[in-house]
Amino acid sequence: MAAEKDELEPGAVQHYDDALYYDYTYRTRTEDIGFYRRFVRQHGGPVLELGAGSGRVTIPLVQDGAEVCALEASPAMLARADEKSRELLEPKDRKRLTLVQSDMRDFSLDRTFNLVLAPFNTLLHLYEPGDFARCFRSVAKHLGPNGRFVFDVRVPQLKELARDPDRVYRVRPFKHPTLGHKVEYEEQFHYDPIKQVQHVTIRFKPGPGAPRRAKAVEVLLSQRQIFPNELRALLALGGLELAGRYGDFSGRPLAEDDLVQIIVARKSSPPTIG
Ligand SMILES: C[S@@+](CC[C@H](N)C(=O)[O-])C[C@H]1O[C@@H](n2cnc3c(N)ncnc32)[C@H](O)[C@@H]1O
Repeated sequence: MAAEKDELEPGAVQHYDDALYYDYTYRTRTEDIGFYRRFVRQHGGPVLELGAGSGRVTIPLVQDGAEVCALEASPAMLARADEKSRELLEPKDRKRLTLVQSDMRDFSLDRTFNLVLAPFNTLLHLYEPGDFARCFRSVAKHLGPNGRFVFDVRVPQLKELARDPDRVYRVRPFKHPTLGHKVEYEEQFHYDPIKQVQHVTIRFKPGPGAPRRAKAVEVLLSQRQIFPNELRALLALGGLELAGRYGDFSGRPLAEDDLVQIIVARKSSPPTIG
């Protein structure tokens, strides 16, 4: 159940309105799923997953026997997760899955979990310090005594943030799974260094052989850039601290050239007196 909600940024919403396209785009991304499966097997559930999306990580966890509560803001992504759970899970296994539509910045589920997960850049949709504080406080409230909060976010890449906002990046036309015809795909990047947010404008233009009535579609994706040392301070806002940090999904410690930071956090230890 979400407390009083403010609007999500368009860049946290539009990219997730088409869940079929989301699944198509990330169909080969599997390494992170293996990492989360291993972590859940070793640490044990129950699991709360924030920004669970279309169930890309959720469903394999349930297939492994975990009890998972999947929290997600986008109705389209949640509907897709539900559909996939019916297709891919046995009815007895589906009983271990709960889908909850809620905002990860404020939630109250009246129970605790051994693990809270937020796979694949979900936390990059927290934009302001207050968003982090509210989300991390909610996480801390839901962590059991030996609970861990595990998530992965990109390490900001300075070369990417310095891209010319007027330059259009194109990839080869492909058949769009929802539009059903070929599209020309374009991206433009604009980095706001004050807010530390990278805005990506994604455009699908009717491609070769598209019907005459086909129109261009534009989608915004906005991702907060979180530098590794800042992340520790943000965790502290919610009463959390670092318990481990990796630079790839094999579990190697974070190093200089890594593209991803995988964080294991726990509730901060209370200060000792005397
Ligand atoms: C990059 S996707 C990751 C989805 C999924 N975890 C995965 O690994 O495929 C980020 C997800 O976070 C969700 N999201 C964005 N802002 C949110 C919020 N404030 N509360 C809950 N979910 C949110 C989006 O709808 C989207 O499904």
